[in-house]
Amino acid sequence: MQSIRNIILKSHYDREDLVHLLQLRDPEKAELLEHASGIRKKYAGDQIYFRGLIEFSNICRKNCLYCGIRSAHKGLKRYNLNDEEVLETARYALDCNYGSIVLQSGELESKHFTGRVNGLLNKIHQHTGGRLRITLSCGEQNRETCLRWFESGAHRYLLRIEASNPELYGRLHPGDQKHLYSRRLECLYDLKDIGYQTGTGVMIGLPFQTIADLADDLLFMKQYDVDMVGMGPYLEHENTPFYHLRNLLPGHFERFQLTLKMIALLRIMMKDINIAATTATQTIDPSGRELAVDAGANVIMPNITPVKYRQYYSLYNGKPFINETFPDLEQSSDFPGIKLNNQIAYGEWGDSIHYLKKQGS
Ligand code: 5AD
Ligand code: SF4
Repeated sequence: MQSIRNIILKSHYDREDLVHLLQLRDPEKAELLEHASGIRKKYAGDQIYFRGLIEFSNICRKNCLYCGIRSAHKGLKRYNLNDEEVLETARYALDCNYGSIVLQSGELESKHFTGRVNGLLNKIHQHTGGRLRITLSCGEQNRETCLRWFESGAHRYLLRIEASNPELYGRLHPGDQKHLYSRRLECLYDLKDIGYQTGTGVMIGLPFQTIADLADDLLFMKQYDVDMVGMGPYLEHENTPFYHLRNLLPGHFERFQLTLKMIALLRIMMKDINIAATTATQTIDPSGRELAVDAGANVIMPNITPVKYRQYYSLYNGKPFINETFPDLEQSSDFPGIKLNNQIAYGEWGDSIHYLKKQGS
């Protein structure tokens, strides 16, 4: 029987190791997190990169069973920032020393939508003199659209696989043509092939999800050779079909602890990728993102969407920072909810080192 310490220090984890490590409790869990934190500093740098998150529209054609902005949630006010508002917010990000923004929305595939995002990319680059790195997170799109957006200056794309087990994916989504696992995977491979820095991720503590599923999620990310990852706890939303399953789930604290272990294990497996400390972690614990950083995350994405729209991007209950405006990074020693003195990278792009190495730069 190998000691836990020897398993933690292995150079490759197999599925059995991961299942074992995902179930660690303190003090071994603390040892795992500490090891991951050291690896983050050594291979991904000792700085934390910030991206300003702009949730520019909550209109979505999909109906994922867990998500509060699913199309069947008819009571939700839908919004769409106009181009001026997006440009102003991008400008604000630059002025506040963010080197990078994320444009996120629900998923639409119309010609109008894809043309609009294209126009936004061009305008933002013109308006900010090309000084911002832009990540898109606008759902599944066909290859032609992904290519067009890349050519217009989108550098990175986030598309969470949500659950890498196709059977579990099937249970999380309606079984129609709009929610195909195969299409999601195809899109992820198109994005990588086009040249994007690609990001994916999963939710942790989902209905029907097992520890072995989570171990497989980590192996999936490794095999896909991801550049960036955002993963966080699944959180209930009362206007979703999954709400009635809430009593069957592990508690929030347990989901949070699992999230920290997932981050730590992924950091050890993929030393130089970017890993986000997600907003969902902060929903459970007021120091959630700091703790995620201590477990190996190196990216934080503060929500800089104009405040009047924030309440409507309601993916799950209790989403934090509905009213806070985030100050200039450089001037602020007490960034809301995060104490990362001396670690914040001001105005830097913070590209994934993993990606840059693959590009040979
Ligand atoms: N709990 C946690 N994360 C959620 N997301 C959507 N709904 C929820 C929820 N109920 C995540 C999905 C999606 C991202 C935009 O938000 O992973 O990819
Ligand atoms: Fe739409 Fe994304 Fe929510 Fe699914 S998870 S309903 S695609 S916003």
